[in-house]
Amino acid sequence: MKPLYLTVTDKHIKYSYEDLDTKTTIDKVYNINAAKTLGENLDNFKTKLPNYFDVVVILNPIDVELRDTIVSCGNQPIDMGLTMENLLHIPTVGVHDVARLGIKQAASAEIEHAGWHLDYYGSYSKKRQYGQESLQTIGNGYFGLRGSYVEARETDDYYPGTYVAGVFDQLTTNINNRDIVNEDLVNLPNAQFMTFSIDDGDPFNLSPDVIENVYRSLDMRTGVLTITMIISLPNGKRLKVVTKKVADMKNYHNYSLQYTVQPLNFSGEMRIFSEIDGSIENANVERYRSFNGKHLIVDDTKVDGNRAILLAHTKNSHVNIAVGTRIQCPNIDGSELSSNRFQEKIAQSIGFHVVEGRKYTVEKTVSMYTSLETDSSLEFAVNDHSHHKNFADAVANSMRCWQKIWKKVDIELSGDITAQKLLRLNEFHATVSAQEHVNKDLDASVGARGLHGEAYRGHIFWDELFILPYYTMHFPDLTKHLLMYRYNRLDAAKDYAEQNGYKGAMYPWQSAMYGDEQSQSLHLNPITNQWDPDNSRKQRHVSLAIAYNIWNYYNMTQDNEFMKQYGLEMLLNIAKMWISMSEYDPQTKQYSISNVMGPDEFHEGYPDAKDSGLKNNAYTNIMTSWLFNTIHHLLEIEPQEVIDENFKRADFTKDNLNDMKNIGQDLKLEFNSENILGQFEGYFKLKDIDFDYYRRQYGDISRMDRILKSEGDSPDKYQLAKQADTLMALYNLTEKNFMDILDQMGYPIENPEQFIKDNVNYYLQRTTHGSTLSRIVYSMLALKVNDTKLSWQLFYEALTSDYYDIQGGTTAEGIHLGVMGATLNVVTSYFAGVDFRGDQLVVEPHFPEAWNTLAFNLSFHGTRFYFRVSKESVIVKADHAAVVKICGQQISLNEDEEKTINYEPLVAES
Ligand code: BGC
Repeated sequence: MKPLYLTVTDKHIKYSYEDLDTKTTIDKVYNINAAKTLGENLDNFKTKLPNYFDVVVILNPIDVELRDTIVSCGNQPIDMGLTMENLLHIPTVGVHDVARLGIKQAASAEIEHAGWHLDYYGSYSKKRQYGQESLQTIGNGYFGLRGSYVEARETDDYYPGTYVAGVFDQLTTNINNRDIVNEDLVNLPNAQFMTFSIDDGDPFNLSPDVIENVYRSLDMRTGVLTITMIISLPNGKRLKVVTKKVADMKNYHNYSLQYTVQPLNFSGEMRIFSEIDGSIENANVERYRSFNGKHLIVDDTKVDGNRAILLAHTKNSHVNIAVGTRIQCPNIDGSELSSNRFQEKIAQSIGFHVVEGRKYTVEKTVSMYTSLETDSSLEFAVNDHSHHKNFADAVANSMRCWQKIWKKVDIELSGDITAQKLLRLNEFHATVSAQEHVNKDLDASVGARGLHGEAYRGHIFWDELFILPYYTMHFPDLTKHLLMYRYNRLDAAKDYAEQNGYKGAMYPWQSAMYGDEQSQSLHLNPITNQWDPDNSRKQRHVSLAIAYNIWNYYNMTQDNEFMKQYGLEMLLNIAKMWISMSEYDPQTKQYSISNVMGPDEFHEGYPDAKDSGLKNNAYTNIMTSWLFNTIHHLLEIEPQEVIDENFKRADFTKDNLNDMKNIGQDLKLEFNSENILGQFEGYFKLKDIDFDYYRRQYGDISRMDRILKSEGDSPDKYQLAKQADTLMALYNLTEKNFMDILDQMGYPIENPEQFIKDNVNYYLQRTTHGSTLSRIVYSMLALKVNDTKLSWQLFYEALTSDYYDIQGGTTAEGIHLGVMGATLNVVTSYFAGVDFRGDQLVVEPHFPEAWNTLAFNLSFHGTRFYFRVSKESVIVKADHAAVVKICGQQISLNEDEEKTINYEPLVAES
């Protein structure tokens, strides 16, 4: 092994290693610059290091009990293990573990640990803590339970939210003499609350300053979140409190908690408190706090011994909710239980005598039912609920379920422990947000921010496009259930189209319970106190994303039954909407689509006529043409009776067929003289912007829209973009399909490679990546133009975007599920290069230089494929006979036969 040894003190980092050439030991010192942040110091320290180490050893850890890598550095305790792993992407171990296991063993144990755990050392506050809670959320597709401390109530430092998929409610708030209606994913009663008191004192009130030390570790392999906290009270009493939480992945109404207190320097009386608190409101997002957030009306509270139940309903959507708890104390003799019912909550507590040094455990099971998925009495359901015997049983169950999940979904990566951890984190949260056996019982889809927070009020966006392929790869039926959420709202989409003067179905930009438009049409500008129009609803391309998801699901699964019963009907209705939006100009003999917005939210309209949206957005027009082609293709292969039946249901006519043909060929695009495809008609008339000027003034310019608006200016005037727009179709479609569509529309591209290169460069220079969905799309586009360095940089920024909360506080309000899904897609479809968009799998790796191997499974056409890809070879296996195209060769596989195909690397630089 090639270790780097560190001795870390407040003032300096002593480091030593063996020089590879001279084989001599080098000893050096890096002095910590007190004027700089620790992060800046460490970045600087990194530049002093050679890059051949494969393990870091910490020689002077100070808190061996929590972790063997904690040191004091720059006058603060930090986990140097986590820090160095984030910096160098190699395992970091403590000297005690090395003494115990040997360096090799310690390093491989740490590779294993780091790849499966999301850990935080130390106490944080405000948005940082909120963000970590989002990322340590546990759940099972039915609910998400934020990873806050169980002792926490809602404050600016902690937000213990609970959400059940599909439970929304609308409330009206009068602001500035206007009634504003908002539909929220409802924050449900807080049943994770637990705390303690000592000697009849007040219950312990959590705040960052009473936490002496804390380690929070989410074990993604088992689904258990463990919080180990040393608490120092002002009266000198110290105790260790260990909380464990686990969601029931199978019996999805359930989660379990284990709460263990250990008095470290006292004996006496203690009580452990448990609550079901229905007085909570929706308050996760600071800027929404001026809106009414009290969605729950508590109907009843009941207690029966160690069981409690709170019954409530949502104010306007009238969803009934029951939350039940059962508390047990497996190792406490002579405890005494007391219960108090309040109007909006139930508090129970258990009192007992404690002896210094001993551990006392209370376990709690929580079950939640709503009238959305439960037909019988909710109270009966909660009471009848079969709980796990104890917490250990709940953990064993969770482990079994996760084992099965990981066997299917795991992307095993060697050569980069940070990427390994974060890829698993994305898969973990994709699972927390939706599961096949859960969503079959629900009428819900995945919100842009998962079940992890309240940003965008839990709404469902086009972001489905970025995550559904991942679900289809592993759990095709899950995608089907999520698509049913859209089918069930087809009538609402038809109404929406009609209200806007269109035919067919127009899905809303933001969707919640009923499928009506939930985007706000006005926003109160806090600077001017004026109501400014919000045109984001003009992103009609959301309907194209739904069409794409239907097609992609069908292409990957060949589920004819779905297409026959639901898919085609949705596609035809969506097509009708685009037909009715298209206008023919006899002069140019072309069609135009007006009054829309592309994915780039900086452009809501033309500078002089903002309300009317934009004309001929390239992404929209290309995808509309794609949709029409796709329908034509489906009509060639579907049986006539299926076509007739669906034409009838969608009221789709022969004329519509002709319209599709004509419009699909003649939708207008605009190019400049350098063959740059314009984002929309008139784009090239807009001014260029001097980014450097704004960068000097504002530093972070990712939200140029806000900057310009605050200066009384408008982003509509400039050639700038929040995210990938013009080239977004290249994310959805194969390059050939994209080029064929341009050709068919009358814009043949002579040199596709040059065209993509020029366009990627042009738009990259004008894109600020103000959405997390931007970098990952450009990472894939950069690969297309062989800029492997840029691709890698953008990929890593996207991969770490929630981990480092790169938008400065948005992770606090929930994960970004879209970028999580897209990142997984770029890894399997571009780095490993397994493309599932054709009628067979096509493999063309662009394998990153920094990685060794990537191994994963996926389902395609009912066959389960296994791939192991490296810089030199692709190993493939399938559970049925299949043919796969790998690096240009057709490879035939027999059932369970493994083949290795060597290839000349087209290496991505890192
Ligand atoms: C992005 C949209 C996205 C939405 C929800 C916005 O910031 O611009 O593309 O759908 O967030 O994630």
